[in-house]
Amino acid sequence: MTDIIRSDAVQKLLDRAAGVGEAGGDARLKRIVRDLLEALMTIIERHDISESEFWRGVDFLGRGAGEFGLIAPGLGIEHFLDLHMDAKDAEAGRSGGTPRTIEGPLYVAGAPLVDGGLTTTNDVNLTTDPDDTEELTMAGRVTGPDGEPVKNAILHVWHANSKGFYSHFDPTGEQSPFNNRRRIRLGADGRYAFHSKMPRGYSVPPEGAAEQLMQWLGRHGDRPAHVHFFIEAPGYRTLTTQINFGDDPHAHDDFAFGTREGLLPVPDRSGGNPAVLFDFVLQRAESANDEGFSSRPRASA
Ligand code: DHB
Ligand code: FE
Repeated sequence: MTDIIRSDAVQKLLDRAAGVGEAGGDARLKRIVRDLLEALMTIIERHDISESEFWRGVDFLGRGAGEFGLIAPGLGIEHFLDLHMDAKDAEAGRSGGTPRTIEGPLYVAGAPLVDGGLTTTNDVNLTTDPDDTEELTMAGRVTGPDGEPVKNAILHVWHANSKGFYSHFDPTGEQSPFNNRRRIRLGADGRYAFHSKMPRGYSVPPEGAAEQLMQWLGRHGDRPAHVHFFIEAPGYRTLTTQINFGDDPHAHDDFAFGTREGLLPVPDRSGGNPAVLFDFVLQRAESANDEGFSSRPRASA
């Protein structure tokens, strides 16, 4: 194997490419770009990547650019971001509460804001479109670390329909905007309840870049059926999480690595339709920043 990364020529090339000697630009970005380039060059050398292979890779990335939001979870990077945030929390002595897990690429801001917590019987319906499948009900409480009810929370909830498609991203064009998406305003007791139509597990679009990549890796692009949540409330840290149905065949084989211990409820079918009771526990906010959302760019409508 060649061994040129540590050579003067390559180290100087890296400095110049990342603008290290230049007065202008962003110092942190320079360090990141330099490390990124060095990692890439190291991989080229270690695997003896040919010029043809390199440019085929660039071409693949260009064609797959629209699916980077799917490829990042599929390659475990979005889950790694969770592991990194968990590790930073542990270092800072922050622990407890419902585990975070990936947001995924399919949230849409601006879902209808409905009241859902005025009484425990005020049951919200998420599904506006017909969908010939079972009804799902889900209910529980949002509490803080000492079991106190979280007051005035907003629970954002979104999930796929029975074909595994999300509104706003449905290739059949059949769903109305914000089908299976709501923001539910809770009351002083922290209770929530909603019903909707049981989602099916999601799969990456057939013939897309993510599907192609999974095939090359000998993997699949399927997720178990799941329901996404953001929970925000004054004085508490915004939680990004989801439940994955514990009885789904992909519950422990999620291509996006979003399933986590503590987030795998098995629906109770003793009453016929699936019903999930699930309580959320939030951490207290330590700063105003904790109460907000990350500034990840998101779709809105
Ligand atoms: C992907 C899709 C999802 O519904 C999700 O929750 C996470 C990831 C994806 O397409 O990668
Ligand atoms: Fe999803």
